[in-house]
Amino acid sequence: MAGSLEAPQRVRNRFTTRAREFDDLYEDERLLVRLLRPGLFRRRQLAVDTVAARQAPSVLDVGCGSGRIGEFVLDAGAASYLGVDFSEPMIEMATARLERFGQQAQLITGDFLSADVGGPFDVVLALGLFDYLPDPERFTQRMFDLCAEGGVVVGSFPAWSAVKGPIRKLRYEWLGDCPIFNYTRSGLERMFGEAGFERVEITSPGRSGFLLRAHRG
Ligand SMILES: C[S@@+](CC[C@H](N)C(=O)[O-])C[C@H]1O[C@@H](n2cnc3c(N)ncnc32)[C@H](O)[C@@H]1O
Repeated sequence: MAGSLEAPQRVRNRFTTRAREFDDLYEDERLLVRLLRPGLFRRRQLAVDTVAARQAPSVLDVGCGSGRIGEFVLDAGAASYLGVDFSEPMIEMATARLERFGQQAQLITGDFLSADVGGPFDVVLALGLFDYLPDPERFTQRMFDLCAEGGVVVGSFPAWSAVKGPIRKLRYEWLGDCPIFNYTRSGLERMFGEAGFERVEITSPGRSGFLLRAHRG
């Protein structure tokens, strides 16, 4: 029964059954959707800017989804890109989308906490991922371990908001059987600091969430 499954399994189920629906958000031109989802494009832009500011970095994309960010960071100058996601349909779409990059783009189907991803990486992306993690500290620590000296983690995090918070709870947890989590600025500073990152930059462009860059060394 869905309700008795562990949180990661419920997240995997959601992004397995709704992979196409998520992917379509990037194409949706409806004004309402655009207005409700500015974060989708803001976080992609932060990834692109971070990659473009470095000399041919290696990129790990945790929870890469359908490769929507992958194609942009490869076009922005990433020397190599490795995407990992535990949703098979997401990886299938990413494989098709990134085919034109040949060996520069690699994809792994699996759970980030146990997948063999190699490394270290100059840029680690975690966009739209932490929303669904019951144990974010383990992910943050693994990202630190996989980050090269001088490397950076780029992440997005939802914050509780009086308007969007209850809507997201209703959509994801009560109707969608998918756990959802919120973050605070001080909580993020603590979590990334404890993982070992030396400098953590956080902005809150849309009030309903945070964009973060955590630097190693
Ligand atoms: C909201 S989507 C974001 C996809 C992509 N980063 C983007 O912004 O377009 C979150 C993705 O994280 C994946 N995911 C969640 N937990 C994961 C885990 N433990 N290991 C690998 N992938 C995971 C889901 O399958 C899903 O495809």
